[in-house]
Amino acid sequence: MHGFILAAVCLTLATPWSAWGALPSADVERRVEALLRRMTVAEKLGQLQQLDGEAEGAARPEHFDLARQGRLGSVLNVRGARRVNELQKAAVEGSRLNIPILFGFDVIHGYRTVFPIPLAEAASFDPAVAQRDAAVAADEASAAGVRWTFAPMVDIARDARWGRIAEGSGEDPYLGSALARARVQGFQGLDYSAPDKVLACAKHWAAYGAAEAGRDYNTTEVSESTLRNVYFPPFRAAVQAGVGTFMSALNDLGGVPSSANPFTLTQVLRKEWGFDGFVVSDYTSVQELIAHGFVADGSEAARKALSAGVDMEMVSRLYGEHGPALFKAKRLSEKVLDEAVRRILRVKFRAGLFERPYADEAREKFLLSSENLRAAREAAGRSMVLLRNKDGVLPLAKDLDVLAVIGPLAEDKAALLGAWTGDGRAQDAVSILDGIRAAVSPKTQVMFARGCEVQGGGSEGIAQALEIARKSRAVILVLGEGPDMSGEASSRSDIGLPGRQLELARRLAALGLPTAVVLVNGRPLALTGLAEATLALLEAWQPGTQGGPAVADVLFGGVNPGGKLPATFPRSVGQEPLYYNHKSTGRPTDETNKYTSKYLDVPSSPLYPFGYGLSYTDFVLSDLSLSAGSIPVDGRLKVSVQVENNGRRAGDEVVQLYIRDLAASVARPVRELKGFQRVSLAPGEARVVEFELGPEELGFYALDGRFQVEPGRFHLFVGDSSVGGLEASFMVLPRGS
Ligand code: NOJ
Repeated sequence: MHGFILAAVCLTLATPWSAWGALPSADVERRVEALLRRMTVAEKLGQLQQLDGEAEGAARPEHFDLARQGRLGSVLNVRGARRVNELQKAAVEGSRLNIPILFGFDVIHGYRTVFPIPLAEAASFDPAVAQRDAAVAADEASAAGVRWTFAPMVDIARDARWGRIAEGSGEDPYLGSALARARVQGFQGLDYSAPDKVLACAKHWAAYGAAEAGRDYNTTEVSESTLRNVYFPPFRAAVQAGVGTFMSALNDLGGVPSSANPFTLTQVLRKEWGFDGFVVSDYTSVQELIAHGFVADGSEAARKALSAGVDMEMVSRLYGEHGPALFKAKRLSEKVLDEAVRRILRVKFRAGLFERPYADEAREKFLLSSENLRAAREAAGRSMVLLRNKDGVLPLAKDLDVLAVIGPLAEDKAALLGAWTGDGRAQDAVSILDGIRAAVSPKTQVMFARGCEVQGGGSEGIAQALEIARKSRAVILVLGEGPDMSGEASSRSDIGLPGRQLELARRLAALGLPTAVVLVNGRPLALTGLAEATLALLEAWQPGTQGGPAVADVLFGGVNPGGKLPATFPRSVGQEPLYYNHKSTGRPTDETNKYTSKYLDVPSSPLYPFGYGLSYTDFVLSDLSLSAGSIPVDGRLKVSVQVENNGRRAGDEVVQLYIRDLAASVARPVRELKGFQRVSLAPGEARVVEFELGPEELGFYALDGRFQVEPGRFHLFVGDSSVGGLEASFMVLPRGS
């Protein structure tokens, strides 16, 4: 697969811009203007309308009528090459101006071959994993007629109660930006008109992940400094990677809904960043301006959303309904309408929709190929995080005579896929139980009991689980969350293990057998209690179609886990929002001093910090060296460190570099990730890892909204997580000194 991606990239680089029918931008602009001149107001408003298909992928009868009238710019959820082509034909051959429909779908972590959830892929600390997922997903989705994915979701999430933390890259803007770039490149390639690529959509603009109390769709209140320094960077990275579209979010931002917010949609996105693609609203978010209490009626909702910069309206129909009267009454200028149409047509031309409106029905037969399944298995393995491994319980031997596999998620295929499964199907997935059965020696007897349900109880189940465990040499316990316990509209106020799973784990642990817990979940969990009870904890996340074999690869040592946490695991839900890159406060936590920032009943620190993860081997970092003790504000600093594998297995370490700006005009976080490298080392092998820090890494957005490096002292940490590590410091000197 790597070879394939490389070949595709080289081909795209080597061939002229028009290889797939993509047009030079002057031609695009000319054709957009020519078409715009011929359009009626109704046809223009039609381009701004996106309607929903049936959940299983069919178009609705109404779509055909609207398509023929030239009043349907886009649909979502309609998929399958034949269905897409039928509806496309009505637009392309049956309408006056023959403008093709753009077919969108949520392809978040795979289309038919489901990869690990994005949060898991962030744990790989390897953007190539996310890029390959997106490239495979684009290939499969485009074969099924999908031309546009509502991904990547690049929302920073600092509160694990929020179920949509599963869909993004976690809490860090630097890691989030690297993954945003990788996903956009994977979906779109260098030219999204290529037949195996799809148009991407950065969402949810803006700060949707800051939902108060972690409750989905809730209000957000974020300062401009935090917006610019924390929530915006992954979106900006997506723009820099060439993302074609944005989605405006459902939340309000300090009282102004994101789907009618001129600051985010026009000032920042268009004026400052120069984005020339289009913005689609989130589902009915234009209509929801009324429920926000921001406008009194549909006409005002349409006026405010469109003039703020939301070009396409998803599902609600207020633009079409109220547009004509708004233009007639001069309450909205037709120039605003023209600009929105221009942006949408521009993207349609760039996508090659006019040259190649139809899907190639023959291609759809090749989904779920063995190559794609291999890529999904590898991605899952690289995403797993070993949280605990006392006494070296893991990896397990493959030839134990009796092995107990216990837990409500061991056989569950749907749970492996998580939320947003595209067209993925549970029956395509290999369960963890089956993955283990296939991996062990034929002589090993694998016994299985559910033990309990994910939620709710069953003490009989626990008794049965204890019984089989007593007959076994080791226990693998598969616990976590069901597939619908994270994702959209799936926030939880208690993020411990649900139901009686902790009790099951404790009772089994009391038997004293070597026991390893495999966690299947879509968010950081509060694992206090479980961690103490068990010797080994492997965070497998929702690992996708190949979750079973991938878990077995790690449990039996075929793959040495090297993932690291992309989001903090708290001790207790009451600590949320908990994230490593917090401010110091004037009274930083000091457990010996009451009058410092902390709780009476739980330490301030996390159970497992951001960036944390173990390996079956040991790594040592040494010889931290800086190219200078001071640099000018526009200077660059080289940092190098040696990493050595001094254990007995080959393995991967993620070397992480953090900085702290000790005095700035806006207080900066206690640590900020500014570099990471995942390196693979053979036993005994050492390597020097190099980083470079320049204005981009050392600067931040000050209160006036400008990006700047401020002179002063910086600390630097290089380590294997966001805690500890080797330390150094350096000065940034004023210009001209
Ligand atoms: C609502 C979700 O918030 C968004 O992420 C998704 O793309 C749309 N629905 C379309 O399914």
